[in-house]
Amino acid sequence: MSQNHGQWTSRFSYVLAATGAAVGLGNIWKFPYIMGENGGGAFVLVYLVCIALIGIPVMMAEVMIGKFGRQTPARSAVLMAKASGRSSAWRVTGWGGVAAGFLILSFYVVIAGWAVAYTWYGFSGRFENQGAEQIGLLFTELNAGPWALMGWSGFIVLGTVLVVGKGLQKGLEKAVNLMMPILFVLLAIMVGYAAATGNFSEAVQFMFAADFSKLSWNGVLIALGHSFFTLSLASGIMMMYGAYLPDNTSLVKTSVYIAIMDTLVALMAGLAIFPIVFANGLPAGAGPGLIFQSLPIAFGQMPLGQLFGGSFFLMVVVAAFTSSIALIESSVAWLVENRGLSRWQASASAGFAIWLASLLTVFSLTGAEWSVVSLWGDIRISFFDLLDYITANIMLPLGGLIIAVFASWAVSEEISRRTLDTTPALYRLWQLSLRFVAPVAIVAVFLNLIGVLNL
Ligand code: PFF
Ligand code: NA
Repeated sequence: MSQNHGQWTSRFSYVLAATGAAVGLGNIWKFPYIMGENGGGAFVLVYLVCIALIGIPVMMAEVMIGKFGRQTPARSAVLMAKASGRSSAWRVTGWGGVAAGFLILSFYVVIAGWAVAYTWYGFSGRFENQGAEQIGLLFTELNAGPWALMGWSGFIVLGTVLVVGKGLQKGLEKAVNLMMPILFVLLAIMVGYAAATGNFSEAVQFMFAADFSKLSWNGVLIALGHSFFTLSLASGIMMMYGAYLPDNTSLVKTSVYIAIMDTLVALMAGLAIFPIVFANGLPAGAGPGLIFQSLPIAFGQMPLGQLFGGSFFLMVVVAAFTSSIALIESSVAWLVENRGLSRWQASASAGFAIWLASLLTVFSLTGAEWSVVSLWGDIRISFFDLLDYITANIMLPLGGLIIAVFASWAVSEEISRRTLDTTPALYRLWQLSLRFVAPVAIVAVFLNLIGVLNL
């Protein structure tokens, strides 16, 4: 594959592209609102532990598989299994990712569509001097009917298809190169502004004082699932990127960089949002609309708020866009490989399918009656919530579990040691985490949840 698609031109651009895939709505939109819904500090602590002990080692395993095979995910996994004398059934590590990536993207584009709308609102001055109530209304109006949502998300789908269809990395690399630093600076400005004008101490208290009585087992599962979601794990992506890994690059070090960058952006987003949430008496558990109902209040009051507000949401769009491209890539690569389509045909078909699937989320948001499904008992849940729950909290941790077992038990030590290419001590640590810590933790969380739910 490296002959067809090329390698990243340098270690730096590899890190940037992988960071671009990692940093996205998960950090800026999802992390703050699920933290808000799950009580703050204890959730953050569990999330950080999951990133360090499970997320980073699994990321290394995925990059290792891609680096070894230099093929699309399923094929790389098969090559590595075969080389270790194992069954080619381990290709399941590739398939699960394609399915998860597709389902995630179906709601991801709709939320990215919100950000496109808010970029427009910001630059056109819709936030100016608006209080919490009017800002809340703006969000309600956006979700009143399907057409606006379909249009805004259609934008993202179209853009993704165009970039992925061309199969280019050059353009993408440049865009990420430029936008990631701007996003970082804008976030820092927002944190500064929130610290100066908002209720910063309450926000810090909320985010970093761990009160475990506020955290349920479901909350623990959400933290675990989010650590996979935010690092783009178990979706084939990191295997894909590993296949492009430049030769002189340490996959261990770069994985740690990527995870640190991703975590920093998430924490900064929390520190930008919660001071404003608390200062305006908004509920921390407001749900998916949290960032859209809080930050615009600040933009509406700060000097140059029009410029800052528009630019901020533009950066969110860019961050979401670089992740969307990564998300669609697994479906596209699968179609090219297994259905013999050209890249253009593959990305257009995947894009159309995703746009259709996104309607489930669109109608969930507008509150269409049919968009709510009944599960067992009297649990009723919208398609949007269902998609989010099944992907992040079930498919990704399960995929991570399989990858951990594959990389640490099935792959021969000789091969993993050589491909990982690190010090003996770090290798042991990595192996220990994947052999025992990750599987035990993931299974324990699942079992506890099932026990608690009394299924
Ligand atoms: N990591 C992305 C985010 O935090 O927004 C979401 C994501 C991208 C998940 C790519 C999975 C993926 F393959
Ligand atoms: Na992320």
